[in-house]
This record gives sequence, structure tokens and C-alpha cells, in this order.
Amino acid sequence: MRRRIVWASVVGFFAATAMATARFFLPRSIFEPSSVFRIGFPSDYALGVDTKFQQQQRIWVVKNTERLFVIYARCTHLGCTPDWKASENKFKCPCHGSGYDSEGVNFEGPAPRPMDRAAVEIDAEGQIVVNTGKLYKWENGTPAPGEFDEEGAYLPV
Ligand code: FES
Repeated sequence: MRRRIVWASVVGFFAATAMATARFFLPRSIFEPSSVFRIGFPSDYALGVDTKFQQQQRIWVVKNTERLFVIYARCTHLGCTPDWKASENKFKCPCHGSGYDSEGVNFEGPAPRPMDRAAVEIDAEGQIVVNTGKLYKWENGTPAPGEFDEEGAYLPV
């Protein structure tokens, strides 16, 4: 009986070691949402900032009288996700206090530049397709408005 227990312990030890080794070498998959997705029709959006995709896709949809564009919700200081403060009409980063206006342009705190904008286009059905894998930037020190006027950075409305 004692011999069986010793053998079971030895086999168990080697099995656990083999499983831990296999797990170390096998890739771990992490769920990441697709970077290309549809967000409905331009007419679905009122003027102003729409936050309904913030949790799911980390974006805000902004519509003004001329354009619809999508801000990628990542602070340009160290990457936290700012909050939209509707009562103050600004985005505020909870990490170090950077503030951005309603179009994502920085005006206070340590953020060095405006937040990036995701590529947008209209598909065959007329829906807005967002691609957060392609971002338009306004780099620090470059003339206004950086890449924000490029085709694909916004949709005319
Ligand atoms: S990460 Fe936003 S202010 Fe530092």
C-alpha cells in the first residue's frame, strides 16, 4: 500500500510538471474585440459626443455640423481612458488630470497632443465602419490639425 502511494505521488508530480511545462510553451489566447466594426448609420447620431461604444470598443463618436468622426479613447499622456464629462463639455483623464475638449484636443494637464481618431468609412448598406487599427494623429509640434483633415479621418455630414 505504501509503495502505491509513493508511485502515485511520483507519477502525479511528473504529470503536473509536464502539464505546467506544456502550458508555458503553448500560446495563451486573449480575447480582443475586432478592430474593424460597424456602428450604425450617420443619422443615428445627434450632434455632440456619443459614448455608447466606450466600454465595448473604446471609442467615442463625435458629430458636429460638418463632420462625424471617431475618437480613440486613449489619453496621449500614458494611455488611460478619459471620461466624458457632459456637464463640463470635456474629456477628463482620471490618471493625471489631462483635459480634452469635445473634439479630443488637449488643453490642460500633461497630455502632449490631441487624442487619435479612428478611420471611418461608409459600407454598401450606408453604415459607418470604424477601424481602430488605423489611427489618424495630430503629433505634437505639427501644424493644425495634423492628420485629422485626411480622407478617412472623418465623414462629411
Ligand atoms: S494618462 Fe491621462 S493624464 Fe496621464
